[in-house]
Amino acid sequence: MTKLLFIEASPRKENSYSSQVANEFLESYKAANPEDEIERLPLFETELAPLGMEGANQKMENIMKLMTTGSGIEPEGEWAGVMKEIERLKSADKVLLSAPMWNYSIPYRLKHWIDLVVQVGASVMVNEKFEYIGQITDRPLQMILASGSPYENRFPLESDGTKTDFERAYLDHIFRFLGFTDIRLIRVMPTGMPGPQLDEIVANAKKEAKEAAKAF
Ligand SMILES: Cc1cc2nc3c(=O)[nH]c(=O)nc-3n(C[C@H](O)[C@H](O)[C@H](O)COP(=O)(O)O)c2cc1C
Repeated sequence: MTKLLFIEASPRKENSYSSQVANEFLESYKAANPEDEIERLPLFETELAPLGMEGANQKMENIMKLMTTGSGIEPEGEWAGVMKEIERLKSADKVLLSAPMWNYSIPYRLKHWIDLVVQVGASVMVNEKFEYIGQITDRPLQMILASGSPYENRFPLESDGTKTDFERAYLDHIFRFLGFTDIRLIRVMPTGMPGPQLDEIVANAKKEAKEAAKAF
């Protein structure tokens, strides 16, 4: 059975524009693919596994053991939580991520999830030429990003001044590092100015999401 993993990174529930657009995407997706399984991962309502002293030491130990013996460490302690989260991502045939921009980047809960699943030696391997080979391949990612201000889809330039979008560039980079190549983007922006223009921005993003879901 095809499984879609929905990672929701805004805590604002029904007030969240990224979640609203993601839910529109899901409704349209479900109508087109009624048999598919949807797994929801609301990051602000989920107790993510810790990754502290033990897990960080295990990560390095795992890499060393892999390089010297060809096999990694046992999934115990904090490393067990890491492996569980990687397995959840690997089990998804398609990934939907909705996220707000927080301080020009991602909310800390999304960073926590990334720090769990992005592991050289587990979800990313290294070859003899010291090239990284992402292991999460052959599945599309739909990102839905909401921000208070408008941003252009390019890496920040000096002329961006005090408004620089590190979120899209970072997410794009981290998912490519994991092995994703089919990365799709819908932006809901700017959401910071109330009024009819905002209603139109949200309505347009929902329309875009509805169409994108049919082809996902
Ligand atoms: C903690 C916090 C930090 C924010 N930082 C930024 C920012 O750096 N740039 C920006 O354009 N908007 C910023 N915003 C506004 C949000 O990006 C905007 O409200 C967006 O709609 C949030 O997504 P959501 O509606 O899905 O929760 C911030 C909002 C919060 C709560």
